[in-house]
Amino acid sequence: MKRNPNGFLREEYQSLVEKSFNWQLRTLEGPSAPVCKVDGNEVIMLCSNNYLNLSNHPKIKRASKKAIDTHGAGSGSVRAIAGSMDLHFEAEKRVAKFKRTESALIYQTGFAANAGLIPQLVEKGDIIISDELNHGSIIDGVRLSKADKGVFKHSDMGDLENVLRDADSKGYRRILIITDGVFSMDGDIAHADQIVKLAQQYGAMTYVDDAHGEGVIGPDGRGVGAHFGIEGKIDVEMGTFSKAYGVVGGLIAGSQDLVNYAYNKSRTWLLSGSHPPAVAAAQIAAIEVLETEPRHVKRLWKNTRYFKKNIKRMGFDTGHSETPIIPLMCGESAKAKELSAFLYKEGIFALPIIFPMVARDKARIRIIMNAGLKREHLDKALDAFERGGKKVGII
Ligand SMILES: Cc1ncc(COP(=O)(O)O)c(C=O)c1O
Repeated sequence: MKRNPNGFLREEYQSLVEKSFNWQLRTLEGPSAPVCKVDGNEVIMLCSNNYLNLSNHPKIKRASKKAIDTHGAGSGSVRAIAGSMDLHFEAEKRVAKFKRTESALIYQTGFAANAGLIPQLVEKGDIIISDELNHGSIIDGVRLSKADKGVFKHSDMGDLENVLRDADSKGYRRILIITDGVFSMDGDIAHADQIVKLAQQYGAMTYVDDAHGEGVIGPDGRGVGAHFGIEGKIDVEMGTFSKAYGVVGGLIAGSQDLVNYAYNKSRTWLLSGSHPPAVAAAQIAAIEVLETEPRHVKRLWKNTRYFKKNIKRMGFDTGHSETPIIPLMCGESAKAKELSAFLYKEGIFALPIIFPMVARDKARIRIIMNAGLKREHLDKALDAFERGGKKVGII
């Protein structure tokens, strides 16, 4: 058989381009900041995950620079062999203290934590039960597992109980319930308290991915466990340093048993080089900033309340948002794209989220609020949204 071994690369890409499903990458010239330069234009940034603007915090930058001088540019190895520096252990101690758990483990990214740990927690003869709107990194972690898979309707506790009851009656050995803490496309919060209760009732383990909750919800931004007053009751609290902490790195927090198990079993942790010391130092400093400077979380919420109140008053539909993730529902993809293009011309950077990331008729502009934005920036953005919304006919 005559094969074209790599022809699919171009064909697949062309097909993405024809359907407008391809990503067009923009260039950030300089830091990710509330007002920054994108492709040569100054824009108000409304789609970065740098919620608290900590990536520009002087203490965090200083800590990072200092670690290069004291520890070098790279760690030299995977954690398990020769790449566990004092800074890595210190960062993990700080995470556990901040999350009020017995222990914590840091992975290279949140994706690596989900892809590495989930498939190790359950095996053949077990079942994973997952919210239908969970993040792609959870979905990939679930796919890597040999366990059976169950899905419950988004945040529907009745449906979760049905799936649990069914799993219980089938006699699975282990049951693992997985949910996002804050859903990244809609900005709603999982009913983590009820999930924990149901899990206790059915003898299931709980895993909450709080990538968008840490540094954002709960007292001092301590995340979903603190938000519901159930700290220590979620078996695996997973998070990331790549969002509100303004750095990079995945984390899990829970019992010492969990951490011992996780680092001996997760292949993404065992077989991949550890963070450069500058990153570990920045992680430590970011937690310190969260612990000692509550103003960042307060400002994030103040900006969120102001923006949401005004954008809703204009007639925009913000879906089920309860957090600084604010979707503006546009319906068809074309409208979301047109609005985003209009906004960019007005100096506002807010990207469209379209099929296949969300359902075909649920295209939206997803705004992520930032603590560093000033009232004048919010007003400028609101004005542009109002004109843009009218132009594309969604308000
Ligand atoms: C819910 C959720 N989980 C996990 C991740 C992955 O985190 P990281 O950027 O650290 O790989 C993301 C990032 O987009 C996310 O939104």
